[in-house]
Amino acid sequence: MTSSTLLPKILLSVLKGQPKALQDSHYPAWHLAPATGLLNDPNGFIHFQGRFHLFYQWNPLGCQHNHKCWGHWSSADLLHWQHEPVALMPEEEYDRSGCYSGSAVDNQGELTLCYTGNVKFAEGGRTAWQCLAVQNAEGGFDKLGPVIPLPEGYTGHVRDPKVWRHENQWYMVLGAQDLAQRGKVLLLRSDDLHHWQLLGELAGSGLGGLGEAGYMWECPDLFTLGADTFLICCPQGVARDAHRFLNTHPSAYLSGTFSLEQATFKHGALHELDAGFEFYAPQTTLSADGRRLLVGWMGVPDGEEMRQPTVAQGWIHQMTCVRELSTHNGKLYQQPIRELQALREDEQCFAGRADDAPGIDARSLELLVESKGELKLNFGDTLILHWQKNQLRLDRRSLENGEWLSRYWDGEANVLQILCDSSSVEIFINEGAGVMSSRYFPSHPAQITFSGSGELRVQYWSLRPCM
Ligand code: FRU
Repeated sequence: MTSSTLLPKILLSVLKGQPKALQDSHYPAWHLAPATGLLNDPNGFIHFQGRFHLFYQWNPLGCQHNHKCWGHWSSADLLHWQHEPVALMPEEEYDRSGCYSGSAVDNQGELTLCYTGNVKFAEGGRTAWQCLAVQNAEGGFDKLGPVIPLPEGYTGHVRDPKVWRHENQWYMVLGAQDLAQRGKVLLLRSDDLHHWQLLGELAGSGLGGLGEAGYMWECPDLFTLGADTFLICCPQGVARDAHRFLNTHPSAYLSGTFSLEQATFKHGALHELDAGFEFYAPQTTLSADGRRLLVGWMGVPDGEEMRQPTVAQGWIHQMTCVRELSTHNGKLYQQPIRELQALREDEQCFAGRADDAPGIDARSLELLVESKGELKLNFGDTLILHWQKNQLRLDRRSLENGEWLSRYWDGEANVLQILCDSSSVEIFINEGAGVMSSRYFPSHPAQITFSGSGELRVQYWSLRPCM
């Protein structure tokens, strides 16, 4: 075992930082957040030998995008997560600028991580290696080194391997940028996880009728659900619509027909995966009972993030709740996992005009709201949901200049399931047909208040903290 120079610094940083983060009124009561420092993508989400493991991009030393390690949590029930030893630290030549995102597989009982070793050069430019690491007897991970160099025809932006097994072979989707600076998803195959063959470009900008669709596609994930195959991806640089793809970097999916033999994916248009202000780099896995589960980063890599007030408390960002995916007519639906119902305290109800509804403590809360709209939900005067006949509009003040910014879900909403934590709101629309995930930073105790002439029926529950 080689000795780590980063580990003592990480330990010190957590010892000093965690008490401060836990005292912050914006620190989540039941979502995953970093003990200290910055968290971004979920990585290596897997159910392995009776426990769920969730790794994550983590800078334990500060709130900037540096020193990317893989943090590690595990859980038996997807509610109570325990910290595990930091899994990967950027200490080798081939991952010195960051152990970037990737996935985990069960290789004949050996928990194996596939990640990107990112290398930035002093004179500018970068390269990337796809690397392996395996779990050791102490629960830590031993690096096995790079197994895929930069493929020819692509820039140094090749990363985020998502690996799965099908029959006797391993397959990988990999985010990439070609030399014309178009975002792509590559498909690779291997017999043993060590030797990989590039099968081709599966989807991307300029392919499959998409036209110009961004300069880099990050964090791909491919899986079959029902009759369709879905490719989740984060296409950077996609053109904004009036109401869709408004975040600096969006998260999207394609659905269609996938052929492993021909390495092809025939798909339709790009759909936005979440219409809120913060949602990026989601990753999925299968539970033991066959559910396709998804967790995302409730953040967006944009300039505004450093203005979030938690930075002053030494931490930034959190995960979404874990969601179960289903499909209707080729569209992906997301709903909170049923395990979350175990956090519900006593049920309360209200039915009547929005103007007569009571204010509700928003700190850690689940709401089920049925209505035909014409009402407003005000979250601590910081986030306002306008529920109109044919549209939901979520308004939030910019942390940069105080202007109100809006996000939209177009269509008739009949029922909303809303999950609130100290500084986040996830709004599930029409049983998962749409989702809006957003952070917000109210003064606590913050209330949700209702107003408007519309009628509504609300069932609500305080949620027990579980972190
Ligand atoms: C997405 C991403 C990935 C990369 C990681 C680095 O948020 O940019 O493409 O692997 O974050 O932290």
